[in-house]
Amino acid sequence: MTKEKREIPVKKNDKVWLKIEDLTHDGRGVGKLDYYPVFVENAIPGEEIEVRIMKTTKKFAYGKVLQWKTKSENRVEDVVSDWIRTGIAPLHHMTYEAQLDFKKNQVEKVIKRIGGFEDVEVKAVKGMENPSKYRNKAQIPVRKVEDRLQTGFFRRNSHDLVPIDDFYIQEPEIDAALIAIKPILEQYNVKPYDEEKQGGNLKNIVIRKGHYTNELMIVLVTKKKKIFKIGEICKEIVSAVPNVTSIIQSIHTENNNVILGKEFVRLYGEEYIEDQLLGNTYQISAKSFYQVNTKQAEVLYQEAIDRAELKKTDVVIDAYCGIGTIGLSLAKQVQHVYGVEMVQDAIDDAQTNAEINGIENVEFKVGKAEFVFEKWLEDGIKPNVIIVDPPRKGLAETFIEASSKMNPEKIVYVSCDPATFARDLKLYAERGYAPDYVQPIDMFPQTSHIECVTVLKKK
Ligand SMILES: C[S@@+](CC[C@H](N)C(=O)[O-])C[C@H]1O[C@@H](n2cnc3c(N)ncnc32)[C@H](O)[C@@H]1O
Repeated sequence: MTKEKREIPVKKNDKVWLKIEDLTHDGRGVGKLDYYPVFVENAIPGEEIEVRIMKTTKKFAYGKVLQWKTKSENRVEDVVSDWIRTGIAPLHHMTYEAQLDFKKNQVEKVIKRIGGFEDVEVKAVKGMENPSKYRNKAQIPVRKVEDRLQTGFFRRNSHDLVPIDDFYIQEPEIDAALIAIKPILEQYNVKPYDEEKQGGNLKNIVIRKGHYTNELMIVLVTKKKKIFKIGEICKEIVSAVPNVTSIIQSIHTENNNVILGKEFVRLYGEEYIEDQLLGNTYQISAKSFYQVNTKQAEVLYQEAIDRAELKKTDVVIDAYCGIGTIGLSLAKQVQHVYGVEMVQDAIDDAQTNAEINGIENVEFKVGKAEFVFEKWLEDGIKPNVIIVDPPRKGLAETFIEASSKMNPEKIVYVSCDPATFARDLKLYAERGYAPDYVQPIDMFPQTSHIECVTVLKKK
């Protein structure tokens, strides 16, 4: 039977009325013209809106709201379109309660659809009391806009810089630092990067803040090594921005979307900043991963630790350990902790962090977790508990195989991507490890991202 070819029911610039029925995984409203979905930013299920069609493809279109006939009770006042069109806070037009419901539904959907689990309960999301101004890290592009050096954010799916001073979800000291640094850079004639011409120098400014210590690290990401009068620039930054304890240059010669370059030069102060988590102190260097929401990271780690039901005799592996934060948070409750992580600087930080917190029963290994686990399996390491916290792409199947063969009592899976999480849970289930329930934790309010924790036990 041949598939009937269906006409695309709209073309660019058409105006149509839609009833929004659903939300995409990244928070756009979905309305249908017969079978054909139209995705619309700043639109909430239940709303009736008139949209202008901005782009069509064979399978769907993008539209822009022109007017509302009915508005959802889940809508907030004072929507800032820059926060939506740049993707800084693409859900901030929804009440926080509605955001948490949306995220719970998203997790439920993928656990069923991708994981194939009909009976695994997804609990209510643990959210924040004050769900704004939480990010302890900013990665801000620098470009020339109307002949001025500007910082802001790219419009979604583009490299057009929208100048922004109030980032809403960043800790306010980070926004204030950017506002103070910009005129200094202009005064010293630092050239913003020009992607088209491959000219200029300053590509990004990365700022990290110790949430509890207030220490600030400023990373200037440049195309070239030379920054004219950099000594004077640093002096001015330090006098204009309170609490700067580290200024680093990262030299990024390649033309890609990676934020940091490969070479790092310390320009002022320390190579790291410090922060605290669950009572431990951590040194964090420019290249190392560190959870961007310190308060919720504590909620997340506590959840993982509680669910692991640790015993004093336990041997624990903290896989994808970053600077060692999960393993070091629980080390005092167990016999021994192994950590593995592929970034050398993060492992160096982890080792220092063990020392400064007086923790001796930990061992950190640099390498890809999938290879290190195969080696540990061969060496006969027998953990009681394995905690995994991989990046968005999730776990390699070889890792799942090796970690299952180690036969731990529990595998605690911490994930920042529900789709790869659900895929991996299915692979563990095929090897006899079943999840109990899933606890989502909102590490990223106002955005569509969500973190999940579950415990897998032998069936
Ligand atoms: C989501 S972060 C978690 C880090 C840490 N658990 C924390 O809470 O801060 C994932 C970490 O995995 C590391 N990583 C990515 N791929 C890896 C791999 N194949 N093997 C080992 N580590 C990897 C990254 O460098 C990053 O530090």
